[in-house]
Amino acid sequence: MTRQKQGDEATRARVITFANQKGGVAKSTTAEAFAASLTARGYAVLMVDMDAQPGNLSAHVGADKGLPGTLELLEHRRPTRDKVLHCIQPTRSFGDVICANEKLDDEDKALSSRVGRELILSRALEPVLGDYDFVVVDTPPALQLRTLNGIAAADDVIVPCMADPSSVAGMEAVLECTAEVGEFVRGTQPRIAGVIVTRYDARNSLEPELFDRIAEIAEEYDAPLLGQGVRNTVNARKAQYSGEALRGFAPKSTAALDYEEAVSAYLDGIE
Ligand SMILES: Nc1ncnc2c1ncn2[C@@H]1O[C@H](COP(=O)(O)OP(=O)(O)OP(=O)(O)O)[C@@H](O)[C@H]1O
Ligand SMILES: [Mg+2]
Repeated sequence: MTRQKQGDEATRARVITFANQKGGVAKSTTAEAFAASLTARGYAVLMVDMDAQPGNLSAHVGADKGLPGTLELLEHRRPTRDKVLHCIQPTRSFGDVICANEKLDDEDKALSSRVGRELILSRALEPVLGDYDFVVVDTPPALQLRTLNGIAAADDVIVPCMADPSSVAGMEAVLECTAEVGEFVRGTQPRIAGVIVTRYDARNSLEPELFDRIAEIAEEYDAPLLGQGVRNTVNARKAQYSGEALRGFAPKSTAALDYEEAVSAYLDGIE
């Protein structure tokens, strides 16, 4: 473990799942920014990558994708602490990670025939929840079984959303899905901890209008907007390319500051 957790032994990590049905809306970037910021604030953080794509969170945080990760984690029918620890690796500035590679896609058929298939991740994380303050789960851009597992394991769901129409539709799909997971899978609904407007460009004439629409929808679901939106900046891409956290790579960049504001708003909401 990279860091000793802040809470006492009996406290369990809060699991935060990042989801939007739409691709490319900065789900992974937002999950990474949260993991890096929470780590820098002294919390013990574990990231779990549920996405098999080449440019996934694991790639950005410099994980060794050849080591055991999410595939091995989900394969265990009776996950023990030792088996789960075997799937965890440290990163330089994002906390620990359970990484994913392209092979994870091949596991879907096996997962879908398992009993309690939406709760596989939730059960698998159980043995290590006492070791961390936060678990950050990144999901693929589809409401498929691995995303449902992310939502079913969550205490808090956060929806990153760009100010564009299809991304807003993807956000609404996740908000509805979270309610259904609560009703039909878990019995209790994960909290919708917030919506974050991502890659925001106020100079694009459509975006301020869609920003307001996102705020309206969030309010309908009782979800706060976390921060004032994360501005579009090339530094976000450059940081991922260099394998560094944005807050370390370009600490004064607009997006780094915006993400810090969003993380502070999230933490205020759970205190
Ligand atoms: N604030 C920002 N400014 C500029 N570019 C950004 C910003 N945030 C994210 N990006 C870029 O947008 C692209 C998509 O981001 P990211 O991979 O986080 O999205 P995603 O929703 O996880 O995508 P996928 O659905 O494929 O998993 C990346 O190239 C990333 O560097
Ligand atoms: Mg992603």
